[in-house]
Amino acid sequence: MPISSIDKEFKNLDTVRLSDEGDSVLIIDQTLLPNEVKILSLTEEKEMYDAIYLLQVRGAPAIGVFAALSMYVLSLNNREEDRDSFIIEFKRQKDYLDSARPTAVNLSWALKRMESVLLKEAQVKEKNFRERFLSVLKKEAISIYEEDIETCKKIGENGVTLIKDGDGIITHCNAGRLATVRYGTATAPMYLAKEKGLNIKVFCDETRPLLQGARLTAFELSKSGIDTTLICDNMSASVMKKGWVNAVFVGADRIAANGDAANKIGTSLLATAAKRYNIPFYVCAPRSTIDPATRNGNEIHIEERNPKEVTELWYEKRMAPKDIKVYNPAFDVTDADLISGIVTEYGVLKPPFTEAIKGIF
Ligand code: MRU
Repeated sequence: MPISSIDKEFKNLDTVRLSDEGDSVLIIDQTLLPNEVKILSLTEEKEMYDAIYLLQVRGAPAIGVFAALSMYVLSLNNREEDRDSFIIEFKRQKDYLDSARPTAVNLSWALKRMESVLLKEAQVKEKNFRERFLSVLKKEAISIYEEDIETCKKIGENGVTLIKDGDGIITHCNAGRLATVRYGTATAPMYLAKEKGLNIKVFCDETRPLLQGARLTAFELSKSGIDTTLICDNMSASVMKKGWVNAVFVGADRIAANGDAANKIGTSLLATAAKRYNIPFYVCAPRSTIDPATRNGNEIHIEERNPKEVTELWYEKRMAPKDIKVYNPAFDVTDADLISGIVTEYGVLKPPFTEAIKGIF
């Protein structure tokens, strides 16, 4: 339920956090941006599931932090009277949230972390299980939230070494502060470049069909004073050909053990164009987005979404024939051989990625 319509400085707001009272999860409702900055306060499992599914909270790291904080808040209201029933209810709610979106591995990664601290604590056979369970769950959720902030700072420090004064950069979708708690992954190097006084120009792909580039990235970068230009997705090769682009920085939802990287639909096309024009293509992501259990991109489950996102959403009237078939995958996989480097909190991983990835696990 909405608690307030806030007009205050957007830049001081975390994308996701625990409320000061500690009994609800607060998110910026990203479906309303850039026209309205509204904070939602969530306590119920259905509204948490919907927040993920409807992209009120989105971006792989932000979804992970949100899921962890949500499991703590749901556990506060878990009324089961014995330890086993408490755990069964916890697992039911965890699986429910996990089913909201399949591609971003951070969702199941964060939920597994929450489950494993609970199961570890459950081995202690003392009476006051509820207090102890809540205490470890809160601690783990806050760690996941704090780690996200620190990780993005480090991605920024590692990524900024790839940027020179005067560079033009293209980014796709929103791997910005709105996709994490604070700094973003692909945008963290840009924010740091600005802080260091480097002049950069960023081109944001609008990112059909949900317009995360136009609504979110263009909004947050321009608000922070970065020289930002919005382009349609089909314009990126053209600005590359003009020589306006020195590097591409994007995020990822799941990176396989061989470096294949799933990210917002259209990323793979951008990487292919970058290769054609000899422009380095960097994927910026925390280690939690790398899934060593997924061998390559073919094993990544790609979410397919409602056809109306393509035919109707954003238009005053439907813009496609009534019964037209629509294919609407939310993500695609960029082949590892198109990626110049994976910028993580552990440094910039270079090909061959299989070895480089093993090295940080
Ligand atoms: O469907 P979305 O908006 O959740 O897709 C988000 C992306 O594809 C991001 O690039 C990715 O999650 C990385 S966010 C740091």
